Amino acid sequence: MSTALIILAAGKGTRMSSDLPKVLHPIAQAPMLAHAMMAGRALEPDHTVVVAGHEAEAVRSAVVDIDDTATVVLQTEQLGTAHAVDQARAVLDDYDGDVVVLYGDTPFLQADTIERMIAARTSADLVILGFDAADPARYGRLLMDGDSLERIVEFKDASDEEREITFCNSGLLACDAKLLFDLISKVGNANASSEYYLTDVVELARAEGRRVTAVACDESETLGVNSRADLARADAVFQSRARAELLELGVTLMAPETVYLSLDTIIGRDTVIEPNVVFGPGVTVESGALIRAFSHLEGCHVSRGAKVGPYARLRPGAELAENTHVGNFVEIKNAEIAEGAKVNHLSYIGDASVGKKTNIGAGTITCNYDGVMKHHTEIGANAFIGSNTLLVAPVKVGEEAMTASGAVITKDVEDGALAIARAPQVSKPGRARKLMDLLRAKKKKRDEDAS
Ligand code: UD1
Ligand code: CA
Repeated sequence: MSTALIILAAGKGTRMSSDLPKVLHPIAQAPMLAHAMMAGRALEPDHTVVVAGHEAEAVRSAVVDIDDTATVVLQTEQLGTAHAVDQARAVLDDYDGDVVVLYGDTPFLQADTIERMIAARTSADLVILGFDAADPARYGRLLMDGDSLERIVEFKDASDEEREITFCNSGLLACDAKLLFDLISKVGNANASSEYYLTDVVELARAEGRRVTAVACDESETLGVNSRADLARADAVFQSRARAELLELGVTLMAPETVYLSLDTIIGRDTVIEPNVVFGPGVTVESGALIRAFSHLEGCHVSRGAKVGPYARLRPGAELAENTHVGNFVEIKNAEIAEGAKVNHLSYIGDASVGKKTNIGAGTITCNYDGVMKHHTEIGANAFIGSNTLLVAPVKVGEEAMTASGAVITKDVEDGALAIARAPQVSKPGRARKLMDLLRAKKKKRDEDAS
């Protein structure tokens, strides 16, 4: 069956105390909204409609980054959740199928929970996701009659007796699109908040003799993020789930609680991750790699059998082929390191390509930036770059070429050539001893004058 997602994200999120709209605050380096959209992606929706309001332009551009097939609609005034869903009506006008409504600030929802809601649609016209709340606080209460959901009453409108109910509304629902929009057009705002409540569709559906039911999930999945403290907790929850998944997939994490992952981190089995490693957005590590302690990776690809770190920094565009070594205090940015090449110590390789089996000596730096523009450095296969070489880009070093230690390479080096570019050494016999004697005498005189 085809499905469409409607994600509500127009709210302000006042308690975040932020200029950034709530749904764009990051959890695991990805906007909260991306987490909700990812959960919904399991349904392979035909349409994804995000309802934006506060800071709608920022939300719009984030949505495009996450999924450029999604549509953003504007809710200029936040008149309630039913009114928010109604903003998607025009986009889904010709659409025939189910709609699933999610909240952009509910990042923990699991894909299989949404799948259970869709499955429940075979025996009900409208399915609501509920949960047993430990502290039902201000949630809407689900008034059940056996398996049938009769009504949702918002906390503000509930009687004392209804407030005793702990089975609460998560806000998520699944329904046939045409039916949902039909019900929504009948929702009024005569309630304690003068808002158009999406929850009213339950009672309206029942009045038409429709079957309405609730699917239950664990409360942890429905937790919303309303403050910075919630955001930090949300990140921690994400991290422990993501680490557990990696362990399950066969990745070794030596100290799991010290490894920081992003929403899109991919790590292959039999890879070993030492303590205190940060995976920023856009990292893929293939099987059987070793990422040693205190390394920081983002926007990069590490191939099978590669060794990275300790204390390595892989920045966007770092592409490490199989069995490469990138050692301590090495930074790689926008550079391809070909199979078997080694950059083991204290180097910066940026905007470059390094050929197969080439060895980059300690302290090598690609001088890629002239203050205005970035330039490329190309190093061929089986080359040997002497320690402390400066490669002033744009420049090429050929295959099997060498650069002498301390070279400042400003001109291309041809295949097989040795480039020496440093002041020749001069030795003065006996001069060191003479100089030391002179200096010691000076110091002695100064000490005597001072006393
Ligand atoms: C809503 C539910 C309540 C449920 C609770 C779960 C209604 C009437 N109430 O209450 O039963 O227990 O969620 O968290 O639906 N939003 C818009 N536009 C609006 C209003 C809201 O986009 O005009 C978005 C918000 O950004 C948020 C979501 O909808 O993502 C929920 O809105 P919120 O105001 O937090 O609803 P609650 O009052 O918490
Ligand atoms: Ca809420």
